[in-house]
Amino acid sequence: MVAELIKVDKTYAGEVPTRVLFEVNLTVAPGEFLAIQGTSGSGKSTLLNLLGLLDSPTGGVLRLGDRDTAGFTARQRAEYRRDYLGFIFQFHYLLPEFTVLENALMPCRLKGREAEQAARARVQALLEQVGLGERLHYRPSQLSGGQQQRVAIIRSLANDPVLVLADEPTGNLDSKTARGAYDLMRELSRTSGKSFVMVSHDERFTRMADRVVQLLDGRVQQA
Ligand SMILES: Nc1ncnc2c1ncn2[C@@H]1O[C@H](COP(=O)(O)OP(=O)(O)O)[C@@H](O)[C@H]1O
Ligand SMILES: [Mg+2]
Repeated sequence: MVAELIKVDKTYAGEVPTRVLFEVNLTVAPGEFLAIQGTSGSGKSTLLNLLGLLDSPTGGVLRLGDRDTAGFTARQRAEYRRDYLGFIFQFHYLLPEFTVLENALMPCRLKGREAEQAARARVQALLEQVGLGERLHYRPSQLSGGQQQRVAIIRSLANDPVLVLADEPTGNLDSKTARGAYDLMRELSRTSGKSFVMVSHDERFTRMADRVVQLLDGRVQQA
């Protein structure tokens, strides 16, 4: 299994503690494109942040691969984010002073110069595959919104991750461009064999996934 949640709870601490996830069970299989659908406030980002080791469950078990993440040190969490996971966000977060190719390679920088060099040809080929071959040395500001999000999608694959996590990746795009970004993620999931977990409130996209998990008030709805 690529990822597994067993009875995962999340309560945010605070003056009034807020319980946001309730005994969530979820598995992510190799190569599958899984959508998590739910209205705003249902806990989708919270769930994705747990999978991405950006936050920790307050109960239950979270496994990545065959490893229970509970005992991970800060360093191990960072290693998993760097090597095992890819991230796509609602906003592209491209760095304006870097080129398209440099931006797409950014996750590899964390691994050092050599890793970046090793990934360069593969990332360049991916950018060419998605029609950005002529724009490798452009700045993000010279691209359309759809092109920028394509760079961000390729960036999520730069470190050759096992699992890509996408939080409302089409949320900031007009509907035609959103469709293009969605289709690109589906195509890349097929050609790369990586698993994708995409969170969205937009049923137009989630219903086309391999599998849809409905989240309602922090609980997985049984189909
Ligand atoms: N850091 C936080 N501290 C306290 N409450 C939070 C925090 N982050 C999110 N929440 C609350 O948790 C609930 C779920 O939020 P979120 O996971 O962002 O939902 P979604 O992504 O589905 O819109 C919301 O009620 C939100 O206000
Ligand atoms: Mg959210």
